[in-house]
Amino acid sequence: MDYTKFFSADVPSLMRSPVREIFSRVDLSAICSFAGGYPAAVTFPMAELPSLTARVLEKYGTKALQYGATQGVPELRAAIARRYGVPVREVQITTSSQQGIDVCSRVFLDPGNVVLVHNPVYLGALQSFRSYRAEVVPIDDWRHSIAGDRDVQDCGHPRPHKGEGPAAVGCGRGRSEAEASWTALSPAARKDAKFIYVIPDFNNPSGETMTLAEREALVALARERDLLIVEDSPYRELRYSGTPVPTIRELAPERTLHLGSFSKIFAPGFRLGWIIAPEPLLEQIYICKQALDLCPPVLDQYLATEFLESGALDRNLVHTREEYRRRRDKMLSLLEQYMPEGTSWTRPEGGLFLWLTLPEGMDTVALYDEALSAGVAYVAGSFFYTDGSHRNTMRLNFSFIAEEKMEPGIRLLSDIVRRRDL
Ligand SMILES: Cc1ncc(COP(=O)(O)O)c(C=O)c1O
Repeated sequence: MDYTKFFSADVPSLMRSPVREIFSRVDLSAICSFAGGYPAAVTFPMAELPSLTARVLEKYGTKALQYGATQGVPELRAAIARRYGVPVREVQITTSSQQGIDVCSRVFLDPGNVVLVHNPVYLGALQSFRSYRAEVVPIDDWRHSIAGDRDVQDCGHPRPHKGEGPAAVGCGRGRSEAEASWTALSPAARKDAKFIYVIPDFNNPSGETMTLAEREALVALARERDLLIVEDSPYRELRYSGTPVPTIRELAPERTLHLGSFSKIFAPGFRLGWIIAPEPLLEQIYICKQALDLCPPVLDQYLATEFLESGALDRNLVHTREEYRRRRDKMLSLLEQYMPEGTSWTRPEGGLFLWLTLPEGMDTVALYDEALSAGVAYVAGSFFYTDGSHRNTMRLNFSFIAEEKMEPGIRLLSDIVRRRDL
């Protein structure tokens, strides 16, 4: 039977995740894998979970197993509102932040509309935008170019050579370049642009963090052009060094949808996240969510409420940050030790990823099979570029790999690069 006629016009725009394809090709637990983006299982509050569950069942009884409000259970909305200092009416609970992205796409995008992003960009967001037939347009190098001269602090950007070079390559250029990038967009792209999508803290995939000047310039651009901003922020609480920078939402609450997630601070299996946004925007998202899933998982929401309100989340975060800080530092020192001249990498202040750039001309997609056979996995960087460029880059995750596999993994990577670099 020919099934093709049954598929909607959206189906050809659905995009397979190359990351998940990698998962299906090989048993990653058998090799040294820097590929996935999973949190470390040791950060899950396994010891607390039985008593947490018992408390929730005692406190909420059958309510915890019933349908709940589409906006999320009032207790969790209130707890999030308190934690982040926002009104409860501006909090919508989502079934994970991936749904947060998707619901924004669904509510704001018509086919042909434009979403502005910076490259490299989170794959799950690209999948969602494209599934609504939106055009994803990078603002060329805006990430670096919109920063004013005053801000040259280390924002995690790659350094040009091993161990040396300016702390923040590319930062410090004038805002007029952002204007130039904007003007360089086609008139249709400018007219049809709906929102800018950014991951300001510890970007997946690059690990970079936007400086205050970059955030301010982005907000100024959005205000001038009357665009919304979708601020995707699942890693914000995972900072291991440096000083927190205000969120985009704090700078522009009137036009920002701030997406949060419990995936990296509690456990991704709960599939819980939230959106903080102006009420009129949330109202439409609320209606849309009625059709999507009626309500986020109720038992999970009560567990998250109890976890947060009892102080267990903050206690657990202390361990989580310690764990990841150690892993990040280990990765950085291994890269320093093994990677040859001509390679560079980001030095993330938080999150789960860093970004490795190999000498010009190398191709991490072409190298991938060789790497897998040698026993090491990564995600090729070009998958995160809207145009598939930057084939000499790769994303490395440091949260999930067993620590004893880090050194052999980096050594294998370095051997492959050295062999090609001869
Ligand atoms: C930037 C970014 N946004 C959203 C998500 C989705 O997270 P979740 O749906 O588990 O909340 C991820 C997951 O890795 C991510 O890296």
